[in-house]
Amino acid sequence: MKLETERLILRKPKRSDWKDVVEGAGDYDVAKMTSHIPHPYAKKDAEWFIDNSIKNWGKVVYTFFIELKSEKKIIGAIGLRQIDTFNGTASTGSWINKKYWRQGYMTEAKIAANDFAFTKLKLRRLNSTVYTHNKASNATQRKVGYRFEGCRKKSLRSMATGKIYDENMYGLLKEDWKKARVKLLKQKLK
Ligand SMILES: CC(C)(COP(=O)(O)OP(=O)(O)OC[C@H]1O[C@@H](n2cnc3c(N)ncnc32)[C@H](O)[C@@H]1OP(=O)(O)O)[C@@H](O)C(=O)NCCC(=O)NCCS
Repeated sequence: MKLETERLILRKPKRSDWKDVVEGAGDYDVAKMTSHIPHPYAKKDAEWFIDNSIKNWGKVVYTFFIELKSEKKIIGAIGLRQIDTFNGTASTGSWINKKYWRQGYMTEAKIAANDFAFTKLKLRRLNSTVYTHNKASNATQRKVGYRFEGCRKKSLRSMATGKIYDENMYGLLKEDWKKARVKLLKQKLK
């Protein structure tokens, strides 16, 4: 199972992806904005991430690797985790290789992942938490329709920095996604 957009393929991880994962997640500027990426980041860390993502694929987790079609390269990952079909909820996490920032790739990947979550998985709400100082991710969540729901003080440690940060909490309801989707697709046509 894979999702396809104009420039990207979102697909199940493969063991052979490890080099691209080390290049992307191994960058301190990526790792420091996440809770779960250690730094330095070695081949064994990428292999653990890949094996774990494959093992849990389609159970309570979908970790899509983001392949850039033009380079046949993995430039990031976007995950739906804690998928709870009874409650209709999941939480999300993502990163993009720094070399590819600010080119709309995460927005494009999120459109596909959100469609998958709300249409195929029939969820009704996505949760996301972002460090308060993470300008890029706060902007990305709001752009795709997430609503700010509050701030948790001294909430989560980053493995890369070892420091504990405040986190913004966001929620995306299915009805808000429908509106945001129309807006995003209109912007793309301009
Ligand atoms: C957050 C992240 C995934 C965004 O990926 P991206 O592909 O660069 O995002 P996009 O190009 O789709 O940008 C989406 C929006 O965010 C804005 N944005 C992106 N980076 C920004 C920055 N550094 N400062 C302010 N706004 C920023 C963009 O301008 C865009 O809005 P616009 O189109 O209205 O201008 C990427 O910066 C990243 O991997 N960061 C490190 C890891 C991380 O933070 N992961 C998320 C943890 S919660």
